[in-house]
Amino acid sequence: MKVDVLLGLQWGDEGKGKIVDVLTPEYNVISRFQGGANAGHTLEFNNSKHVLHLIPSGIFHENTINLIGNGVVLDPAIFKQEIDDLKKFNFDATQRLSIAKKANLIIPTHKILDAAKEQAKGKDKIGSTLKGIGPAYTDKVSRNALRIGDILESNFMEKYEKLKNIHLNTLTLYDFDFDITELEAKFFEGIELIKTFNLIDIEHTVNNYLKDKKTKILAEGAQGTMLDIDFGSYPFVTSSNTVCAGACTGMGIAPSKIGEVKGIFKAYCTRVGSGPFPTELFDADGQKLRDVGHEYGSTTGRPRRCGWLDLVALKYSVMINGVTELIMTKADVLDSFETIKVAVAYKIDGKQVDFFPYDICGSVEPIYKEFKGWNCDLTKMKSENELPAELLEYIAYIEKETEVPVKIVSVGPDREATIIR
Ligand code: GDP
Ligand code: IMO
Ligand code: MG
Repeated sequence: MKVDVLLGLQWGDEGKGKIVDVLTPEYNVISRFQGGANAGHTLEFNNSKHVLHLIPSGIFHENTINLIGNGVVLDPAIFKQEIDDLKKFNFDATQRLSIAKKANLIIPTHKILDAAKEQAKGKDKIGSTLKGIGPAYTDKVSRNALRIGDILESNFMEKYEKLKNIHLNTLTLYDFDFDITELEAKFFEGIELIKTFNLIDIEHTVNNYLKDKKTKILAEGAQGTMLDIDFGSYPFVTSSNTVCAGACTGMGIAPSKIGEVKGIFKAYCTRVGSGPFPTELFDADGQKLRDVGHEYGSTTGRPRRCGWLDLVALKYSVMINGVTELIMTKADVLDSFETIKVAVAYKIDGKQVDFFPYDICGSVEPIYKEFKGWNCDLTKMKSENELPAELLEYIAYIEKETEVPVKIVSVGPDREATIIR
């Protein structure tokens, strides 16, 4: 068996949570491999809506094992909040969820540092979710971090105080007021809760599953390829490798063990936070996408920036991830558009550019191809043969350009509003 990977091909919020939940019955294990509570993955079923930040989106399925990989940066306070929220649903998450001992901890001062650094950046701010992601990965790479495994050691408090003091020292460089008391209380409550979970060496766990040839594993990406620390629109990115390679380092599996790579994209584009976005719309169409698509951040509630599908960026993401199957979400949001546009190239300094360039921070003008809208309600459709010809033409064009088949079309937020092709 190999590990299939599902990941975002745009700037996040492509609908990963929904689709992982839909696909979970095909898998025995769902594993997060990077990011932290900057993620907000929405699942809707049985008239209820759930937003998960750290917990994998397979958690609602009884027989599924959920893993938090070593590549994740875990905030114990948010983790406890999520587990408490799940208690309402009458199942014991400790039986369904295991956490990698090598995952890194987000401590209260990481979040304070995140906020202080963003404030100091002024108009150049990244638009971070302020969950402490950047500072936590900084400590990981600079070899100062605390890991989940450390909470079991007798010198954990000593290590915690040492790291906290490094952060407090750094904070004296910023003009930033903060109060750590409540944050710390919630952090330590979270730490106690984490101790009740199965803490694992995920690299052994996952490779043993791979050997038994019966266990099917799906790795659940967070954020999106255009937010990747290496390949995204740097510096307006997150601090982890959101691309397929991140699943290898974030769970301890070899590249040869990757199976299908399921790349998910919206039928248009959104972005939350700062940074370049070539197809962004500032007109009535942009507002309509936001209104119809309810484009407000699942983690921060911020309005998402909206624009047309960017095929230049999408092709780049398909290449970087080795995508083998595409999943298109939110097709229904385009139901009432007369004309739908897709960026097929960029114009930069008067020259046409067909590939994703080093830098899109300057003036990038999209060159659009227009498609006729389908002008009908997709949300009740259940099968491929109900789909309108105009939508099929739109999909066929994307498949031709990316050279990857679109295997799933999502036509609404609910689990049921999913067409498998
Ligand atoms: P994720 O971070 O990739 O899991 O995506 P989010 O949950 O942050 O954002 C996706 C939003 O779109 C959520 O509110 C979903 O409920 C919703 N959604 C997912 N798929 C569809 C779809 O096909 N149509 C519509 N209208 N909404 C969808
Ligand atoms: P999911 O998994 C959309 C964005 C932030 C900001 C930048 C850096 O729900 O798709 P960070 O908090 O990591 O320092 O923020 O990345 N960002 C996301 N945008 N969806 C996400 O996750 C995101 N996680 C981070 O808005 O621009
Ligand atoms: Mg999201």
